Amino acid sequence: MPDIVSYLKNNLTTGFIGKELHYLAITSSTQDIAREMADHGAPEGTVVIAGIQQSGRGRLGRSWLSPEGGLATSIILRPAMSAVPLLPAISALSVFRTIKGLGIKASIKWPNDILISGRKVCGILIEHGLINGVVSYSIIGIGININFDTGLYPEIAGFATSLSVQLGHELPAGRVALRVYTELEDLYLRAVKPDVIIREWAANMNTIGRRVKVQSGNSAVEGVAETINGSGHLVLRLDDGSVQEILAGDVLPIPGSG
Ligand code: BTN
Repeated sequence: MPDIVSYLKNNLTTGFIGKELHYLAITSSTQDIAREMADHGAPEGTVVIAGIQQSGRGRLGRSWLSPEGGLATSIILRPAMSAVPLLPAISALSVFRTIKGLGIKASIKWPNDILISGRKVCGILIEHGLINGVVSYSIIGIGININFDTGLYPEIAGFATSLSVQLGHELPAGRVALRVYTELEDLYLRAVKPDVIIREWAANMNTIGRRVKVQSGNSAVEGVAETINGSGHLVLRLDDGSVQEILAGDVLPIPGSG
């Protein structure tokens, strides 16, 4: 049994996340495996972990590099409709808190990238299964660069980092995964208090109060990232004083804007 699986089986004390755990040494994408399982009735909290993903995917149609030493995991949730808009916040916070617990200062880049010193250490992809337009399950896909040197991969070397690069030593992936699942469950069960969750999410974001450029598809808009509203959307104040709600996109801080 791989170390990460035995560590989780022996130490995880969550009520439902990770109770059912599937490990694949190599797979295409844990998102696809989890979706297949969810479609066949897998219970809420089912976790899929891969050692290596050969076609890991990210937000906005990007790919996600998943070499050995990273954590690639997907978690099946079956949220109430009211909890769906909170999933980006709770998933980002679960990783943010985990990294903070390791003594590393991190920040969140809206909606749910986790950065250390401005470099990406974690990406999160949330996908939904719908029945008649209603969410029947959500798959929270989390990729964390743990134990590999991001500098050795030219495609990410310029903007990414890993926990081992930051700490100067490797750490057991099971420990990281355990904290993420535990925090995720804790936050998910508290999704009845959305304002508390959104406040913690916004308070740890690197962009609030700063001038940013938001790129969505082929269009870009510039303004000051004022706040996150109750639906989890980024509220941007444009130069003409109007306000634009951003539902999806890439937020780039504008250098020199404080
Ligand atoms: C992003 O930053 O664009 C999101 C990256 C999400 C990557 C994770 S790794 C586990 C899961 N499986 C995937 O194929 N993607 C997510």
